[in-house]
Amino acid sequence: MESETEHNAPSQSTPKDGIHQTYAFTHQGLSSHILQAECLAAIQTYPKDSVHTAFLDPPYNTGLVESKVPRYTQNKDFAEKKWDNFHAEWDTIPDYYRWSAEWLDALRPRMQKRSSVWICCTHHCQGELLLALKRTGYYIITQVAWCIPNAFPHLAGTRMAHSHQTLIWARPYASHFYNYPVAKSYNDGKNLRDYWLINNDTQAGKRWKHPSKKPPALVRRALHISTPEQGHVVDFFAGSGTTGLACEQLTRDYTYPLTYTLSDQNAEYAAMAHERIKEYLG
Ligand SMILES: C[S@@+](CC[C@H](N)C(=O)[O-])C[C@H]1O[C@@H](n2cnc3c(N)ncnc32)[C@H](O)[C@@H]1O
Repeated sequence: MESETEHNAPSQSTPKDGIHQTYAFTHQGLSSHILQAECLAAIQTYPKDSVHTAFLDPPYNTGLVESKVPRYTQNKDFAEKKWDNFHAEWDTIPDYYRWSAEWLDALRPRMQKRSSVWICCTHHCQGELLLALKRTGYYIITQVAWCIPNAFPHLAGTRMAHSHQTLIWARPYASHFYNYPVAKSYNDGKNLRDYWLINNDTQAGKRWKHPSKKPPALVRRALHISTPEQGHVVDFFAGSGTTGLACEQLTRDYTYPLTYTLSDQNAEYAAMAHERIKEYLG
């Protein structure tokens, strides 16, 4: 395997394909890409049967019109949606559901026969996502409770502190890939359980300013157990690029080579993902 690392300069493509910018990486002879694109445009670029795993962390739609309670509207950050700038036109539950079903449908023919998708969510959007998965013909394999020991405390003291999120694991076809020996390696030689204790990465939080960054250890584990070696991973809500970073870590630190196509509609986040991975590769 070659050992060179190349980070190509970003290239502009024709606006009509919806891809505003492309960053390319070649690492150990493997090619990966980051695009600035709306999710449906990005999905169109994936060849048929090319995706082994989709790791997806969609906007949670926390500012839903229907689920806003008076307390939220009194809170300036919620009211102005400053902290959650992922909002598109789908501020209602049916719109969010329809939009999720649309990208799941578009993704399906691009998935390999034994592929799977991971979708991060909280109670804000979990119902809509589960329904969209089922209605578009995906089968739910399991749900992982990602338990976060160092989650923020709930200072108001009116409820328990939110300390977990859900990762839905689903497949588009009749079977899926599960790397059982690798899964056991994450649990002292016994099959992995579906609650994972993984801290938020507070250091990365200071360096890469994205409000919903996931810890690389979480994404790495999900990809490691569900993607065959040399598999191709996609993430079309890439944010700060954690999924690409996790693929690079598996390739370099775990000798488990993976390639990826990441994308985000936000130019700043696509550039951040590029910088973050470039910095890791050195
Ligand atoms: C929850 S964040 C993902 C965070 C990411 N997992 C990380 O670790 O940094 C969701 C991302 O989806 C992007 N996004 C929202 N709507 C989108 C759309 N329609 N198409 C593409 N990206 C979108 C946002 O810009 C945001 O960065």
